[in-house]
Amino acid sequence: MTDEKAVTIRDFAARKGGEKLVMVTAYDALFARIVDESGVDAILVGDSLGNVVAGLDSTLGVTLDQMIYHATMVRRGCRRALLVIDLPFMTYQVSAEDAMRNAGRVMQETAAQAVKLEGGSPSRAETVRRVVEMGVPVMGHLGFTPQSIHALGGARVQGRDEAGERRLLDEAKRLEDAGAFSIVLELMPAAVARRVTESVRIPTIGIGAGPGCDGQVLVLPDLLGLNAGFAPKFLKRYAELGDAARAAIRGFADETRSGRYPDEAHSF
Ligand code: KIV
Repeated sequence: MTDEKAVTIRDFAARKGGEKLVMVTAYDALFARIVDESGVDAILVGDSLGNVVAGLDSTLGVTLDQMIYHATMVRRGCRRALLVIDLPFMTYQVSAEDAMRNAGRVMQETAAQAVKLEGGSPSRAETVRRVVEMGVPVMGHLGFTPQSIHALGGARVQGRDEAGERRLLDEAKRLEDAGAFSIVLELMPAAVARRVTESVRIPTIGIGAGPGCDGQVLVLPDLLGLNAGFAPKFLKRYAELGDAARAAIRGFADETRSGRYPDEAHSF
């Protein structure tokens, strides 16, 4: 259920070059509520849930049913932010018809407002065009695209040379022409992301792409410091909730073992 002032893709368009857009991932109702109440513009149910929730090495093992399950939970906690759902690997790569059917399922079963998919080749842009044409807003995703991690040889910065930058500029233009309402730019030099951002009329949302984008996205457990082993250069932790959680659980264990919990105040 969304409220009256829920963010729409028109709000995204209006923020191009203006106040920066903020997007944060969420994977369940509990955290979606916290994220939504914090006033972000968009919540992304990212297929990063494969890494950060399911403990997989990559996003490749995430299925559409899993995305829909998590997205329905997030929907219950998200009232105001624009809700964007990742289409996972193998749900749009084989054919535009697959993409349309699977994007339709996501919209119908999760009540999200948009889907996100990776890549900007001519055939991918055609897929985006077909999905947009059926009335489903699409957010693109360029640069390091995690579903192609093996083809890219790992989580590497993209667009470092002239040809790489040219490719990113072409892909962004194609996605814009295909009707995407926004594009995530992941892992690329700040100067390249700035030029890509300046080259399109739709807002870009950066992650590891410097300050020149129209907005920023971070993965929630990363920004909260819940994912201790993950420390790429671009990541800023805004809390150390992993430490706080460990301390709280140790406190409970100590007091239980020593008989201090439950005391009279916590007993009937
Ligand atoms: O899956 C995800 O969380 C993402 C963000 C990193 C943009 O795609």
